[in-house]
Amino acid sequence: MSRPKISIIGAGNVGATTAHWCAAAELGDIVLLDIPQVGDMPKGKALDLMQASPIMGFDSRIIGTNDYADTAGSSVVVITAGIARKPGMSRDDLLGTNAKIVGSVAEQIKATSPEAVLIVVSNPLDAMVQRVQKVSGFPHKRVIGQAGVLDTARYRTFLAMELGVSVEDITALLMGGHGDTMVPMPSCTSVGGIPVTRLIDPKRLEEIVDRTRKGGAEIVGLLKTGSAYYAPAAATTQMVEAIIKDKKRLIPVAAWCDKEYGVGGYYVGVPAILGAGGVERIIELDLEPQERADFKKSIDAVKELVAAMDGLAL
Ligand SMILES: NC(=O)c1ccc[n+]([C@@H]2O[C@H](COP(=O)([O-])OP(=O)(O)OC[C@H]3O[C@@H](n4cnc5c(N)ncnc54)[C@H](O)[C@@H]3O)[C@@H](O)[C@H]2O)c1
Repeated sequence: MSRPKISIIGAGNVGATTAHWCAAAELGDIVLLDIPQVGDMPKGKALDLMQASPIMGFDSRIIGTNDYADTAGSSVVVITAGIARKPGMSRDDLLGTNAKIVGSVAEQIKATSPEAVLIVVSNPLDAMVQRVQKVSGFPHKRVIGQAGVLDTARYRTFLAMELGVSVEDITALLMGGHGDTMVPMPSCTSVGGIPVTRLIDPKRLEEIVDRTRKGGAEIVGLLKTGSAYYAPAAATTQMVEAIIKDKKRLIPVAAWCDKEYGVGGYYVGVPAILGAGGVERIIELDLEPQERADFKKSIDAVKELVAAMDGLAL
């Protein structure tokens, strides 16, 4: 029996760090791919990471490449290819460039790993995952976007900092698009089983939600030269693990919703069960009036983004 193959397209900050977390968790063999213009950079990062294995104690074959033939037969493909935000840029500013890039990646993966589950990370996320599904023609449940795990992790971090409790005791859920319209769900947020609304007053909770919404921009502003990658890569790794180990994790992901929540055929962030088949079930909650209104606003923003993408010559 061989190990599962995990291919990561784009060997930049998010891609290489995802390789790092996946290797450390011994999830499988890893292929790190980037474009020929970057030369042997993916080979260098892969070899360096592999040389950490005797110290950290993981068995994983890690290779870097510019050739899709090396990714053939992957179980999971993570797509991080594209450009990242710089200060002053919104995620949506990346639309045209990244839509072309992820489209070309999807073409290649379709030919080399037709059975893979695809996890899209490139921004603007909700549009990019739609583009990858369309070009690959893969079943919707095998093309998923990473956003909700990261956004929820940021929210959990800020709540733990506020209350001075372990992050492990905080469970939370955010829905909707990956952007300023993400929808917090106070009714689904608890601290050691206690509803968060009994521990933090509404005004302060709103401030924490606002910081979460702008969590990506806060890091971009601090780094100056790129965007966040440790937490995005950790979030992506949690999704890889759920698929590789068929864990049936119930986590927020960008999943294709048609009748679900009345979305009408778009990728948006919803709670879903993630296992070997990709998105195995979307959990439909009966939303409270404010949550429903916020979720609709978020879906409208995703629709606008997809319409803008459809208007481009790709
Ligand atoms: N969904 C999320 O939560 C989330 C979080 C952080 C970053 N992102 C997004 O992930 C993407 C990557 O971010 P990063 O910080 O790693 O950027 P980066 O610039 O460090 O790395 C991107 C890599 O993609 C490569 N690339 C470009 N075109 C390619 C192609 N056609 N095929 C293969 N590789 C290609 C580049 O050469 C580069 O090495 C960005 O779009 C960023 O906005 C998403």
